[in-house]
Amino acid sequence: MWIAGREIRTASPLTVRVPYDGSPFATVFAAGPNELQQAVEAAVAAAPVMRALTLDERSAILRTAHYRLLEQKEEFARTISSESGKPLREGRVEVERAAGTLLFSSEEAHRLAGEVVPMEALSAGKGRMAMTVREPVGVIAAITPFNFPLNLSVHKIGPALAGGNTVIHKPASATPVCALKLARLLHDCGLPAGALNVVTGPGGAIGDFLVEHPSIRMITFTGSAEVGLRIRARAGLKRVTLELGNNSALLVEPDADLADCVERAVPGAYAHSGQVCISVQRIFVHRRIHDEFVERFTTAARALRVGPPLDPATQVSSLITETEARRVEQWVEEAVAAGAVRHSGGPRSTATLQPVVLTEVPEQSRVFRQEAFGPVAAINAYDALDDAIARLNNSDYGLQAGIFTNDLDKAFHAAHRVEVGGFLINDVPQFRLDQMPYGGVKLSGTGREGPRYAIEEMTEPKLISWRTRRG
Ligand code: SIN
Repeated sequence: MWIAGREIRTASPLTVRVPYDGSPFATVFAAGPNELQQAVEAAVAAAPVMRALTLDERSAILRTAHYRLLEQKEEFARTISSESGKPLREGRVEVERAAGTLLFSSEEAHRLAGEVVPMEALSAGKGRMAMTVREPVGVIAAITPFNFPLNLSVHKIGPALAGGNTVIHKPASATPVCALKLARLLHDCGLPAGALNVVTGPGGAIGDFLVEHPSIRMITFTGSAEVGLRIRARAGLKRVTLELGNNSALLVEPDADLADCVERAVPGAYAHSGQVCISVQRIFVHRRIHDEFVERFTTAARALRVGPPLDPATQVSSLITETEARRVEQWVEEAVAAGAVRHSGGPRSTATLQPVVLTEVPEQSRVFRQEAFGPVAAINAYDALDDAIARLNNSDYGLQAGIFTNDLDKAFHAAHRVEVGGFLINDVPQFRLDQMPYGGVKLSGTGREGPRYAIEEMTEPKLISWRTRRG
């Protein structure tokens, strides 16, 4: 663990394993109540120190971290791949993205400003001037998932520090190593001791401790809707940002550029074995082009190279655990038993599943209705765009969706009707740049990430009003 600027070990070691073959990769230590309390005390003690840093000092730490992370790109990329099973080529992209997120956070520190309040907009305000300043929320608990062990951590830690907060970070139990390396890197860039603490170990008890602790003022969580709802129910008046799941949908109109669409949709569905909250899962294709789309898509999916994560040629590797791979496999089998047609996919080898392509998928099946979080694309035909939009919206989730069409009218018609936090025209819902506002509606969560938006959620506007006595 990393608490108050130093490494902490306990008597409870935990082995981090490479998901692809189960080989041991690293040892971390499980936090007990003592370490959790120490982490809270360190974060509370560092809060006035962080608050007192100038915006420029906070910005400089994050900017230095941006450059140091790029210098250590290969080492971080190999760590990401080893602990999460993500192909190395995607691990490298994740490091570049995380470095960018640090830079955006550093820039937001420079921009952190309140506003002038027009007090005389009411005559009762005559002679008054007021402004808001943005103050840190205080101690923030950041709970992150395994699928982007570096960048989704930076999405919480970067804006939190830019806003002058202190952080207790609980990374996913499968992928704690990146988080620990990041904490050390930020420390080496001049971050005050206690400003970032990392507690490792199994999720439930640690999460409950952090969510209920009175000194923690905000919870920022990325993960499943089930856990998000539990956090919300227990968090009382703490601020809560939740970035939860999705069963992302793509609409493909008959006028779409099919080659371009397939080229984007295949990696959109199978990158990191579909373990991305915005992975392309449901594809609604106009009946006129359906068969051609399925043929092109299946050919491209079959051509993906499946293999060990550290092989630079690998495009698809394992899921995070064999249990997860079995779950996805079972959902696929259920859909096939209910009438879906399998064009590609399977067999499973321990935690690795070959990319699955399904058509004619019953829309009540779990692989369609729930978040699959696996390498599965479910393709169904439609006759009218409005019908496809209604079926897209017939979901408990609403994070991102996309459409391929050459008709701008249709694109904006859809954009105004889809119930999501982000809509991509001529792109896949899996597309994300780290400066974008990112978050969803319905069970996909509350609040937005992306440094400019996250820093708003992580600071409080304080009003300062001045009554001039001379009128
Ligand atoms: C997520 O899985 O929500 C993160 C997706 C991304 O950052 O690309």
